[in-house]
Amino acid sequence: MGTQIKKVGILTGGGDCPGLNSVIYGIMLKAYDAGIECVGILKGWKGFLENTTIPLDIAEHDDLHTVGGTILYTSRTNPFKGVSSKEERAKELAKKFEELGIDALIAIGGDDTLGVADKMYKFGNARVVGCPKTIDNDIAGTHYTFGFWSAVQLASNTLDNLTTTAHSHQRVFVVEIMGRDAGFLTMYSGISAGADIILIPETPFDLENDIVDVLKKRVNSGYKHHIIVISEGAYPHSDSLKRDFKTISEGTIDKLPKDTFGNPLLSQLNISHIIVKELDLRDDLKEEFQKNGVDFECRSVVLGHTMRAGTPNSFDRILGLRFGLAAMKLVLEGKFGNMVSLQGNKITTVPLSEGVKKKYITPENDKMELRDLLVKIRYLSKQK
Ligand code: F6P
Repeated sequence: MGTQIKKVGILTGGGDCPGLNSVIYGIMLKAYDAGIECVGILKGWKGFLENTTIPLDIAEHDDLHTVGGTILYTSRTNPFKGVSSKEERAKELAKKFEELGIDALIAIGGDDTLGVADKMYKFGNARVVGCPKTIDNDIAGTHYTFGFWSAVQLASNTLDNLTTTAHSHQRVFVVEIMGRDAGFLTMYSGISAGADIILIPETPFDLENDIVDVLKKRVNSGYKHHIIVISEGAYPHSDSLKRDFKTISEGTIDKLPKDTFGNPLLSQLNISHIIVKELDLRDDLKEEFQKNGVDFECRSVVLGHTMRAGTPNSFDRILGLRFGLAAMKLVLEGKFGNMVSLQGNKITTVPLSEGVKKKYITPENDKMELRDLLVKIRYLSKQK
């Protein structure tokens, strides 16, 4: 099928993330070189549905890859929300290309945004390619999404900094880290900064064994301040929930509101705050601290959107540019229905249908072992 491409649309959907502009710039560089016009579709799928576009003239965007956020704005609009037939909807959406005056579309987003692109390709034969974005790194088809390492660095720096105030006050800090139901951000930033307890959704935690007992062992080994990192989506396993928790019960997570793609809004649970409240109720823990000359004081810090803010780091600038270049090449080659991907240090291509599947930290991952050693060996090595 000969595909005459004159104009390519670009959209960014879902939560923003450092490196979005780097991808856009990578696309624009290659498109300019190939004599193809770029048009920006504003606010993700919202702009696609409402025909809101801007021209993208590369002459006006020197070094766009160094700038944080997205010049195209973003939203979590789901064009498939509430439709009875996905197939019909996808066909309708594919027809929008004509209205928008575009010959192909590059969708930059996480599993939700790319899931829409996948359905448009599968059922509507739309000329679409995808580019995997998210600070969460939870997309199966790529080793790393762009934005992840910038967010890890931001979180790790904050954890380093929190150590000084934790030290001054001899406090316990419970630091909540984004990532929805995947633990990559918490695991990597926690290990990087040497957090004392690292709790992720992939391994439901036990309040007694994984937190209270470790804090007691640490304080008895001479530690006077402690940094606990916890994913916004981490939760206690059901035995611990029933046995140890006084302030939440089973069903609390089910009752959380959901976003337009049906994901529970985990940040609204505020798990770090819950842990602080639970620990504050533990007289046995307070006594153990007291015995070691420390007044038990615990605070929660939610890193929240600070983790996605600011400029991309060098890794994400370069990965973003490489992804943008590769996505534009897919368009030029007519290889639609695919997603660009990083495998090792190579940029490759995977079908959108495979690429957009969710990824989690698996038990055999060496980061799991590192985490457990890091938590345990420090207090064990100091016990006489
Ligand atoms: O998916 C990226 C992410 O930053 C998650 O880690 C977080 O749960 C969510 O977005 C926050 O979404 P919003 O920006 O809509 O509050």
